[in-house]
Amino acid sequence: MKKLVIATGNAGKLREIQHLLQALNIEALPQSDFAVPEAEEPHCTFIENALAKARHASQHTGLPALADDSGICVDALQGAPGVHSARYACLDGTEPKSDERNNAKLLQSLSGEKNRYAHYYCVMVLVRYADDPQPLIAEGIWQGEILQQPRGDGGFGYDPLFLDAKTDKTGAELPLEIKNRISHRGQALAKLVHKLERLAL
Ligand code: IMP
Repeated sequence: MKKLVIATGNAGKLREIQHLLQALNIEALPQSDFAVPEAEEPHCTFIENALAKARHASQHTGLPALADDSGICVDALQGAPGVHSARYACLDGTEPKSDERNNAKLLQSLSGEKNRYAHYYCVMVLVRYADDPQPLIAEGIWQGEILQQPRGDGGFGYDPLFLDAKTDKTGAELPLEIKNRISHRGQALAKLVHKLERLAL
């Protein structure tokens, strides 16, 4: 079985990625198994942040590394929270990160707003080694809208507020198999897997 390190400390993402890679007979190990410290994400684009995380994890482990950078982009907020999705409610310096506070801030930012259109965006990057000049890159977009109140107990992050445009269910109401099939991360990973099949790790 081939080994990959997954450059994330987010348990929700890790679960989804491991589930998807199992089918390819790839052992996806969390970077916490190697005590990789969290990478900086200083960039203003998803792709730059994903590359920084993948290179950092590969450098620390000597293994190929897969990273994603993702977030929710809300039309009426000119694409915010965007690359700041994980720390949206911490932008004023308050800690720690919290999905609950992020969701509360999103609802507050959209208070009175009729245009609730939003999408999740994900870019996935795989580097075979830390300074790989030809990383594999794939992206996915999931369209939906932001509800006025949360619905469902599954998923993570903004899922209870994010209504899928096609099924009329929130990300927190969809079973993991279905979310993985339609989500931004599922789409990006499916495209990456396609490319991976042709790559000798
Ligand atoms: P990253 O770790 O910098 O990529 O942060 C991504 C952040 O975007 C997460 O912490 C969530 O707040 C949000 N996010 C990304 N994908 C999802 C998803 O599938 N469901 C819910 N929130 C998500």
